[in-house]
Amino acid sequence: MPASSVSTAAVGVPSSLFLTRGAEKWQKTSFLKKKRPNLMTPSPYSSRARIQASLSPIEIPRQWYNLVADIPVKPPPPLHPKTFQPINPQDLSPLFPDELIKQETSHDRFIDIPDEVIDIYRLWRPTPLIRARRLEKLLDTPARIYYKYEGGSPAGSHKVNTAVPQVWYNLREGVKKIVTETGAGQWGSALSFACSLFGLDCEVWQVRASYDQKPYRRLMMQTWGANVHPSPSNITEAGRKILEADPMSPGSLGIAISEAVEVATSDPAVKYCLGSVLNHVLLHQTVIGQECLDQMKAIGETPDLIIGCTGGGSNFAGLSFPFIREKLQGKINPIIRAVEPTACPSLTKGDYAYDFGDTAGMTPLMKMHTLGHDFIPDPIHAGGLRYHGMAPLISHVYDQGFMEAIAIPQKECFEGAIKFARTEGIIPAPEPAHAIAATIREALLCKESREAKVILTAMCGHGHFDLASYEKYLQGNMVDLSFEAERIQASLAKIPKLAA
Ligand SMILES: Cc1ncc(COP(=O)(O)O)c(C=O)c1O
Repeated sequence: MPASSVSTAAVGVPSSLFLTRGAEKWQKTSFLKKKRPNLMTPSPYSSRARIQASLSPIEIPRQWYNLVADIPVKPPPPLHPKTFQPINPQDLSPLFPDELIKQETSHDRFIDIPDEVIDIYRLWRPTPLIRARRLEKLLDTPARIYYKYEGGSPAGSHKVNTAVPQVWYNLREGVKKIVTETGAGQWGSALSFACSLFGLDCEVWQVRASYDQKPYRRLMMQTWGANVHPSPSNITEAGRKILEADPMSPGSLGIAISEAVEVATSDPAVKYCLGSVLNHVLLHQTVIGQECLDQMKAIGETPDLIIGCTGGGSNFAGLSFPFIREKLQGKINPIIRAVEPTACPSLTKGDYAYDFGDTAGMTPLMKMHTLGHDFIPDPIHAGGLRYHGMAPLISHVYDQGFMEAIAIPQKECFEGAIKFARTEGIIPAPEPAHAIAATIREALLCKESREAKVILTAMCGHGHFDLASYEKYLQGNMVDLSFEAERIQASLAKIPKLAA
């Protein structure tokens, strides 16, 4: 099916919403035909509401996809924070249940998704793949722009794709309480939602900057029954140390991780969940890319460029890894592009080195692109992108040359997000606004070069609880926080020195 003849691109949402073969027949009955508009005629205003009559809806994947199985050079192992030797699986036991530790170190290509998890995924999966026709029109570009939208989940982002299985495995191994950190508040909400479904207690350290900017995210977590603290807090030693040095600290994901890990390691009844960075988190997110591969095939499209924002890397990996598998097999050759904020440029300006995942140095050392574990990024509005490091697997894939990265300042991101909201209707979270800004850059280049590239973008969450940042932008009060090379150099100097 040539792409130009496809009248729609909302693929893979529950079939009852869309035309099926039967509906096509029904539409041909004469008395209805006269009264109703012809639903099969492509219209510039119809991109969300129709599906090609001959397409059957796509399924939720039954397995997660593990890219580690297919990359020729395997990623370097995590190291013990004291001995600097590769960690044993049991070193992770105070933090994670056995099944997640197994997944973390697995080289299996596919891992079965438990039925109980799929049952819950059905609340929002499969998620739609939507062609952004109105945005294309606004930009006057020949590019075809598609976005995979994860914002229809109960918590409003992709984070629930991993929160649900993480809580499920903890429940199965008898854990009663889970602790975590949250940057944008999206991960904390996702985990609170999953804990409420399975009846586990949930305690969340929310980065101070986001706790202050987003009271409704906190209330969402509390509605689902979680106990929420601003981080740094006085509850933990890690938090108290930071507050002694800077009572006004805006916090960071690295600090909040230290607080949650400290609580988990001091109580055997408590385990810790992480919303990004680790292999098993990236693994769970591959439901996004697997569905999207099927959806693109169904409409006869092949992406020339795949774009996603990167904080710890999970939504980007979730969309891109199944496509990287196809690329490694020589079936397709898209450019895969990560987008990060200029205020926290771990891929584009960080070192590729062993570093701690948290500020206090309690986690294993991971080889990753890092700005240094005590780097505290400026309080940009994309709280979920304020992390000093990058997923080790993404860092490795980047190092091996399978993907590229760029950094974009926040004002350009909000400018893009507003264009997107005013054409496509969805108000993006500030994090995927980075992917949208990069998509717009590329679409405008296509306009100049007259290339009809297919651009696929990860739209990983809505911004309904980020409207204070939109207000700032709309009132002209948003600033681009400057990139300070010296500050990054100072924190890079504190990365542990390992013998070569
Ligand atoms: C909506 C949204 N997008 C993206 C991110 C960044 O995380 P990741 O890179 O793991 O997708 C976050 C993190 O909180 C988020 O809330």
